[in-house]
Amino acid sequence: MTVDLTNDHEGKVVRGLEGVVAAETDISYVDGVNGDLYYKGYNIHDIADNTTSYIEVVHLLLHSELPTKKQLSDFRREIVTDMRIPTQVVDMMKIMPPSSHPMDVLRTAVSALAYFDPDTSDNSYEANYRKGIRLIAQIPTLVASLYRIRNGNSILSPDPNINTAANILYMFHGKLPTKLQTRAMDLILLLHADHGLNASTFAARVTASTHADMHAAVTTALGTLKGPLHGGANERVMKMLKEITDVAEVDEYISTMLSQGQRVMGFGHRVYKKEDPRTAHLREMSEELCSKRGNQKLYEISHSIEEHVFKVKGIYPNVDFYSATVQHALGIPEEFYTTIFAASRISGWVAHILDQYENNRLIRPTSKYTGKFNREFLPISER
Ligand code: SDX
Repeated sequence: MTVDLTNDHEGKVVRGLEGVVAAETDISYVDGVNGDLYYKGYNIHDIADNTTSYIEVVHLLLHSELPTKKQLSDFRREIVTDMRIPTQVVDMMKIMPPSSHPMDVLRTAVSALAYFDPDTSDNSYEANYRKGIRLIAQIPTLVASLYRIRNGNSILSPDPNINTAANILYMFHGKLPTKLQTRAMDLILLLHADHGLNASTFAARVTASTHADMHAAVTTALGTLKGPLHGGANERVMKMLKEITDVAEVDEYISTMLSQGQRVMGFGHRVYKKEDPRTAHLREMSEELCSKRGNQKLYEISHSIEEHVFKVKGIYPNVDFYSATVQHALGIPEEFYTTIFAASRISGWVAHILDQYENNRLIRPTSKYTGKFNREFLPISER
């Protein structure tokens, strides 16, 4: 019996869905040819150079407009009010094995937040918006609280008088950050907020397309972001930097990696064929923070790696490369780098999940079947 496979979409397999247009959205656009990124029509350079806080970007992603002063003040209060997390979830994080990765604990904690969310069983736009705001507010608190638990310190409540970036550093370290530290964290958060149909955002949209709830879709996204080919690269960048003690070692270290066919973490991108536009802002902040902390060597080693990889492979650093040294300068331990990425990308995920719900079609691609048909079935006694 022959089976007609031509009913599949031309039967062509596109590995990694590279270049496949899987959705229409006005939330963000990654221009790989020109090395540009747009959030709701604003160029990322204008956003990075002119917005005063990450919360402005969250307002833009969710409401399609940059806020007025009053709208920003009201929106910041809305977010800060929702930053608290249920004590039951804190207690659950306390019993997690100390060796468990912070991204695994965060994924589990976000899943658990659903049990205590008043809107869990309501899939209306209004309820999903409220759940999204709560997750945008709560994930930074979960991350900082886990850090405090891991270091045997008491958990700190968010300070209602400061913004998300300052609150993350305050809830991590127990003291108010300097203006430069707050600016650095704001930059990290606003640059990581959204990025087209990256793997974790696409995963969130797939889950939302089945009408599964907001917490389920964000849990999917967290699981996907953790991978070293995606959001998990920043932690590995720092591990690599810690193995190189001097600029003089860079060429041999990187040449050895490349000759063994290894990927240099923090480099390359599926879409950008020029430098990731976010890199310039993080490179500049990394140089400033490393210099201020008398740790120029870390920046010099980073910059030397960048020159060597480009010379040998012609590829550029992506958002993860200099994010590592900026977070290091802010006292964030490397195993928490991807949770900080998630503390920002939650705003993009929420925008895309709401977008998917509002204009939904179940995401269900097909596949090119390479197996047999109608094999003779033998009862187990005859196998
Ligand atoms: C993020 O999608 C997004 O938008 C993601 C993100 C976001 O904001 O959401 O931008 C965030 O995830 C950034 C990427 C973080 N990941 C890493 O830094 C991991 C290291 N990078 C690579 O694994 C790779 O560049 C990917 C996964 C990011 C992209 O891989 P592709 O598009 O599948 O490209 P590929 O692996 O097929 O490589 C193409 C060529 C190969 O050369 P050849 O073997 O054909 O000669 O480029 C080379 C690769 O060898 N190459 C690298 C490299 N990345 C690509 N060589 C060495 N080191 C690298 N990092």
